[in-house]
Amino acid sequence: MARPKVYATHSLFEAARQILRESCDVEFWATPERPPREEVLRQVRDKEGLVCLLTEKVNEEFLRVAPKLRIVANVAVGFDNIDVPACTQRGVVATNTPGVLDETTADFAWTLMMAVARRLAEGEALARSGNWKNWNLDQLVGADVWGKTLGIVGFGRIGRAMARRANGFQMKVVYTDAVRATLELEKELKAEFRDMNALLAEADFISVHVPLLPETRGLFDAPKFHRMKPTAYLINTSRGPVVDEAALVAALESGTIAGAALDVYENEPFIHPGLKRANVVLAPHIASASLETRTKMACMAAENVVALFKGQRPANLLNPEVLKSS
Ligand code: DGY
Repeated sequence: MARPKVYATHSLFEAARQILRESCDVEFWATPERPPREEVLRQVRDKEGLVCLLTEKVNEEFLRVAPKLRIVANVAVGFDNIDVPACTQRGVVATNTPGVLDETTADFAWTLMMAVARRLAEGEALARSGNWKNWNLDQLVGADVWGKTLGIVGFGRIGRAMARRANGFQMKVVYTDAVRATLELEKELKAEFRDMNALLAEADFISVHVPLLPETRGLFDAPKFHRMKPTAYLINTSRGPVVDEAALVAALESGTIAGAALDVYENEPFIHPGLKRANVVLAPHIASASLETRTKMACMAAENVVALFKGQRPANLLNPEVLKSS
C-alpha cells in the first residue's frame, strides 16, 4: 500500500523523525533558516500531511495549492497561524501540541519575571563589561518578587502552573479569565478571582497566558496600562499581538508601569526599538525551548499525523467535526 506523503517544515528531532518515517514518506526542510513560503507552497502541492511550525501561515491560499492535504499538525500549542475554519471547510484536520509545554513555559515566564524584577540583564551586562568597580549599597536595586501579588491573566494550564510557583514564593495570587475556576481549584492554588480592572489595580506582576483570539488582540492597551500600578511589571509569554506594543512603549517611557519582560512580539521577529530599554527584558520566543519539551512537541505532532493515516483519531484535534462527517 502506498505510504502517505508528508512534508515537515523543520528537521524536527530524531525521535519525531522516527515516528514519521515508520509509516510515511516524509520530506524534511533541513536548513537552519525557516523555509521561504514559496518553497513550502511548492512542497505541499502533492502532500497529504504537513508538520509545521508557528512560522507557517496555513490560510486559504496555502490550502488551495495543497488539494491532497488531509492534516496540518502544528508543533505549537498556539495555532493562530492556522485558519482552522478554512481547514475544516476543506476537510483538513488541524492539530496542536497542548499540555507538554505548560511547566516549561511557566518556568520561563517565572525566569522573565525574576530577571526584570531583579535587573538581571543589567547586572549581567555590567559583570561582563569589565566596568564593575565595586560593591555598593544601592547598586542595581530592583523589586522583591516574594511576598508580592501576582496577577495571572488567563487561568488555563500555564496560568495555573504560574500560581503553583507563586505559592512557593509566598505570593498572593489573583487571576482573571473568561471562565472562573472551580472553588476547589481556587482553594488548591490559593488563587482569588478578580475582574480585569481589579486585577490590574492590585497586581505587582501581571503574567499573560491567553491565546491570541479576536477578543484578546490588543487586550493590553493604553487604558489597561493606566490602571496598573506605577511599580508593576508586565510579563508576556503568550502571543505578541495580545499587547499593543506602541501603548506599552508609551507606558514604559512615561513611567506608567515599572517594566516589562517579553518573549513574544507583535510582528516577530521584529522588536519595537522602544522596547530596547533597561527596564525591559527581551527574549526571542523561547519560553517552551527546553530540549525535552521541544522534542515532546515534535513527537506529539508526528503522532497526530501518523494516527490520522492509520485511521485513528489524532489526540489533539482542533476541528473534530472534520472526522465526524467522514
Ligand atoms: C506555542 O507552543 O504556542 C509556543 O508559542 C511555542 O512553543
